[in-house]
Amino acid sequence: MKSYADSRLLRLLVPTLRGGARPRGAAFFLFPFSFFLLSACQQQMANQPSYRPLEPSSFFRDGRASRPLPPGTVPRGRPLADSPLLTGRTHTTDVSRAAGLIGLGTGDLFGVLGQRQASAGPAAEYVSDFPIPVTRAALVRGQERFTIFCAVCHDAAGTGHGKIVERGYLQPPDYHTDDARGLRRRGVTVPLRNVPVGYLFEVVSNGYGGMPDYASQIPPEDRWKIVMYVRTLQLSWHAPLRDLPPEEREKARAQREGRP
Ligand code: HEC
Repeated sequence: MKSYADSRLLRLLVPTLRGGARPRGAAFFLFPFSFFLLSACQQQMANQPSYRPLEPSSFFRDGRASRPLPPGTVPRGRPLADSPLLTGRTHTTDVSRAAGLIGLGTGDLFGVLGQRQASAGPAAEYVSDFPIPVTRAALVRGQERFTIFCAVCHDAAGTGHGKIVERGYLQPPDYHTDDARGLRRRGVTVPLRNVPVGYLFEVVSNGYGGMPDYASQIPPEDRWKIVMYVRTLQLSWHAPLRDLPPEEREKARAQREGRP
């Protein structure tokens, strides 16, 4: 019906547009209404049978047009979910988890398997190397992110006297002098200065006790850069003189001895 009406309208309009003179009166009269034809056309194109992302669907039983990923799907080019880059943990965790499941202490199992990290206890579950390159640019980025996300509580030097703490928030530990509370709860006393970097990464990612988690706000690489900066802060307070470049060493020695 509609297409018949359309074609009649077109027959009226086309000669007019081409400059034909004959049915000019009718065309002039009908021309404004031709926009309704265009809008009808646009409407049909906008209503595609394909689904838009997250649109509901009555076709699938769960009512979702976007289908869930098949279990075990691994996105191309992304690290695996249990890679140290995303967890801060070495794969020994799997061993200790397995040990727990079959009722063995980790020590026993490490004894059985002859793993070298047995004596280091829970700290051995974490990587002690950075999974991304340690560069000046990474450190600068880490400092910037630390100032944005952490200094409000931990303060710029990491002593745990940030502005939020001044207003009554739970006092965080001092990075330079306190032991890791999370590891102490698991039976080992390790100064925060000596915890593996993977442990610091885990605290930032999952939070600990009164500290919120930052996995959703800070992408993993930035979390590592923050950890890099925390490690640098810690080193800056406890670096042995011999680790400084010669000219800095001389300056520091002079300062310590009160010489000009
Ligand atoms: C809202 C305040 C707050 C912010 C922001 C915050 N922290 Fe904390 N953090 C805490 C508190 C409180 C604790 C101690 C938690 C406890 O003992 O229950 C803590 C503990 C820690 C610890 C020690 C964990 C342990 O085992 O002792 C580390 C490391 C740490 N934070 C790193 C960070 C880093 C890095 C950031 C920035 C990404 C950050 N925190 C941001 C409040 C904060």
